[in-house]
Amino acid sequence: MNKRYSLNEYIEIINNYLDSSIGECTFGEDIVHNAMKYSLSIGGKRIRPVLVLEFCRICGGNIEDALPFAAAIEMIHTYSLIHDDLPCMDDDDMRRGMPSCHKKYGEEYALLAGDGLLTRAFGIVAESEMAKKSPEKAVEAIRLLSSLAGVNGMIGGQVVDLRNEDKPCGLDVLQTMDSLKTGALIKCSALLGVVVAGGTKEQKDAAISYAENLGHAFQIVDDILDVIGDEKELGKPIGSDAESNKSTYVSILGIEQSQKYADELTDKAIASLDIFADEADFLKKLALSLVKRKN
Ligand code: IPE
Ligand code: IPE
Ligand code: MG
Ligand code: MG
Ligand code: MG
Repeated sequence: MNKRYSLNEYIEIINNYLDSSIGECTFGEDIVHNAMKYSLSIGGKRIRPVLVLEFCRICGGNIEDALPFAAAIEMIHTYSLIHDDLPCMDDDDMRRGMPSCHKKYGEEYALLAGDGLLTRAFGIVAESEMAKKSPEKAVEAIRLLSSLAGVNGMIGGQVVDLRNEDKPCGLDVLQTMDSLKTGALIKCSALLGVVVAGGTKEQKDAAISYAENLGHAFQIVDDILDVIGDEKELGKPIGSDAESNKSTYVSILGIEQSQKYADELTDKAIASLDIFADEADFLKKLALSLVKRKN
C-alpha cells in the first residue's frame, strides 16, 4: 500500500499546493485576486482536501494525482464560506480567526472573490495531469463537483437553511439541510479521492457511507460550537445561529442529545470503513477527532 501521511503532513502539502494554484492576475486590478488569496490562506482545517487525498491513497491511488481535486474542493468550500458570511446570508464578521472577506474587501469584492474561487476550481481540474492522462476521471470529477456543490447539493442546503430561519422545523428538514449544505461537499471530497484512484464499487460505497455520517456529525458539532464554543478558538462568532433564529439540532434537541447523536453518527462512519482494514486508521482517527473538535 502507498506511503502514509500524518494530518500535519497533508495540511502542509495542501497549503503549498493551494498557494500556487490561484493563478496570476494579468490586467492590473487585483483586488478580487487578493481577496481570493486572503480567504484561502488565512486558515481552515482543510478537512475536505485531506479526505480527497486519504481516500485516494487507501484506494491505491497516488496523492500527487489527487492534489488538483483537493485544491478544487477547498476553493469551492472557501467560496461557500465567503458567501455564507455576507450580510444577506449569516452576516458574520469573523472567519478563520480574521475579518470575513467582505469586512476586509467590501461586499461587492467578496461576492466576486467567491465567484472567482468557484470558477478557478473547475480550471484547476481542467488543467490537471489527470485531465490529460485519464480525461474520463477528470470529467467524472467535474460532474461530482458540479452536482454536489450545486442547487441539489451545497447550494440547496443553504436554501433550506435560509427558508427555515425564524421558524422551528422538524428533524427531517434538519437532516435534509445538513446533508446538503455540509454533507454534500464532504461526500464529494471522499468520492473525488475514490475516482482519482479508480476505486472499486465496494470502496465507493464505503466512502459514501463514511462521508454521509461524518458530514452529518460535522454539522451537528458545528451547531454545538456555535453555542458553547470559544470564539477565539473557533475563529468565527458564536451565537450566530440563535441571532438569525436558525433551526439546528441544538435548538431542537439540546446540547447533550445533539452530542450523543453526533457520537452515534461518528461510530457509524467508522464502521463503514471495515473493508479497508488498518489502512482506514487515519480516517477513523480523523472522525473521532472531529466529533471532539473545538474549532
Ligand atoms: C465550516 O466548515 C462550515 C461548515 C460546513 C460547518 P469548516 O469547519 O470545515 O471550516 P474551515 O474550513 O475549517 O474554516
Ligand atoms: C455553513 O453552515 C454551510 C456552508 C457554508 C455551505 P454554517 O453557516 O453553520 O457555517 P458557519 O458556522 O458559518 O461556518
Ligand atoms: Mg450558514
Ligand atoms: Mg454561517
Ligand atoms: Mg455554523
